[in-house]
Amino acid sequence: MGRLDNRVAVVTGGGRGIGRATCIRLAADGAVVVVNDIDDAPATETAALITSAGGRALPVVANTVDMAQARALIDTAISEFGSLDIVVNNAGTTRDKMFHGLDDPLFDLVMDANLKTAFHTTLAAMPYLRDTAKAEIKQNGRPDHHRKIVLTSSVAALMGNPGQFNYTAAKGAVIAVTKTLARELGPFGINVNAVAPGFIETRLTAAKQQGDTYGIPEEMRMMARAMIALGRLGEPEDVANVTAFLASPDSDFVSGVTVPVTGGQLGGM
Ligand SMILES: NC(=O)c1ccc[n+]([C@@H]2O[C@H](COP(=O)([O-])OP(=O)(O)OC[C@H]3O[C@@H](n4cnc5c(N)ncnc54)[C@H](O)[C@@H]3O)[C@@H](O)[C@H]2O)c1
Repeated sequence: MGRLDNRVAVVTGGGRGIGRATCIRLAADGAVVVVNDIDDAPATETAALITSAGGRALPVVANTVDMAQARALIDTAISEFGSLDIVVNNAGTTRDKMFHGLDDPLFDLVMDANLKTAFHTTLAAMPYLRDTAKAEIKQNGRPDHHRKIVLTSSVAALMGNPGQFNYTAAKGAVIAVTKTLARELGPFGINVNAVAPGFIETRLTAAKQQGDTYGIPEEMRMMARAMIALGRLGEPEDVANVTAFLASPDSDFVSGVTVPVTGGQLGGM
């Protein structure tokens, strides 16, 4: 018996990094996982890793910046598996630039990838999370079980970070909307929480070479490590473990919070 047996989860950005580790962890806990990504090959690979370990997963390519694609993603989860219990809004990206050089396209791209994806995916899920719970409350006086929404903020939004005006705007908004959604959806037994990862080893934080789209300079990586109380950079599984807790019945009385997953990073908790 797993604590997520009979639960259906959708994870955005599940093809790589933290999203992939989250898909694998939710599946290990018993959930059926819809692995969403904009990129086909990594999503398919995550799903294959789950099925080869004996779990159930389905890759679905969609860019949830587009509302129609978000609806198609959620509709696929329903048509394939019949219900929806967990939405993990993990998709996100960075395009770092010092503020004086920022422009509208870079601002919009990062806001869209980190905030609009969560807005659209969560909105598309409402008929299956909120309306289903509402019908259960009408029939039985309470929802059958708690349903879970997890969003992804960042330690950058807790501390501020040079070069990340766009990213901290989006990730700060994630913290705020987590509180708002928790208040709106609590009466339906839907818990809404966020994780705020610190410095986690993925392509977003890999040592950046000249011309790379993602990554950060090696000296900043070393500085970040020096600020982490537990003395190491984080792994995607460190975040996945906390998300799995927030997706599980173990957190049924936790809502509206953003959990820093930082190894005790100075200034970011
Ligand atoms: N790595 C870190 O240190 C760190 C720290 C704080 C927050 N985060 C956040 O954690 C989340 C995962 O980051 P990661 O480090 O694993 O990055 P990653 O780049 O390794 O993985 C992100 C995945 O999301 C996908 N994606 C991007 N935009 C998408 C969209 N519009 N629709 C669907 N999929 C999309 C990408 O294709 C990629 O596979 C992001 O929200 C990121 O901002 C990461």
